[in-house]
Amino acid sequence: MSVQNPLDLPDSDPFDVARIAAEQIAEKTGVERHDIALTLGSGWGKAAELLGETTATIPAHEIIGFSKPALEGHVGTLRSVLLPGGKRALVIGARTHYYEDHGVRRVVHSVRTAAATGVKTMILTNGAGGIKETWKPGTPVLISDHINLTADSPLEGATFIDLTDLYSKRLRDLAHSIDSTLDEGVYCQFRGPHYETPAEVQMAKIIGGHIVGMSTALEAIAARQSGMEVLGMSLITNLAAGIQKTPLSHAEVIEAGQMAEPVISALLARIVAAI
Ligand code: HPA
Repeated sequence: MSVQNPLDLPDSDPFDVARIAAEQIAEKTGVERHDIALTLGSGWGKAAELLGETTATIPAHEIIGFSKPALEGHVGTLRSVLLPGGKRALVIGARTHYYEDHGVRRVVHSVRTAAATGVKTMILTNGAGGIKETWKPGTPVLISDHINLTADSPLEGATFIDLTDLYSKRLRDLAHSIDSTLDEGVYCQFRGPHYETPAEVQMAKIIGGHIVGMSTALEAIAARQSGMEVLGMSLITNLAAGIQKTPLSHAEVIEAGQMAEPVISALLARIVAAI
């Protein structure tokens, strides 16, 4: 019988679970506090090696509140990386997606855990569809804002959090100082796991969206609630449905991610080194 995830118990406090998770990470990594956390989405995984020296790697499901991997044979990991400047990064290679239907608490648990380890800067990355026709597959884009189309929130009860400048202008400026060609866009989080219809992509465009995906917005809200500064980056793996004339395929999305991975991972490592 599998042990129940404490986040699923109705009277558990997700921030208590995150605090315990942070203590477990400190114990297993030997690193008391982390400064920066990165969630590495599709196409961004190589950044983990380029950031600095990995001093510890933990299977994420050994930490309280983290889910067992959704895919057989896929082990999500948490890594502690010593950056060249002496800061410590927590690299989260285990993302629970909203479409997995485990509830929002599990979706944002890694972010709350990062905050509980002391992290002040949360970097959220993903692979996503592009609405701007000038973007080619393989283009990295800074997230300037989001539209949350999940109709859900990680905030529980009457918790009012300001989301003006959620995707820090300071960090976007810093990223631009590393690569002045980086474009920006508004990220629309859909529930998924189906890709959008062309009509939904047109809706996203009309309401001000430039990027469509299935993650990040809920995590960014939780990061802000925990007081962290957020940097969001999307890898455009494909043009969104109907913008590109051919059907979308998961295999193509993965392939575009693999092709772009070395370049965008190196870019991300340079940005992190400058933070
Ligand atoms: N839509 C949603 N999520 C995605 C896409 C897309 O076109 N590409 C990669 N992830």
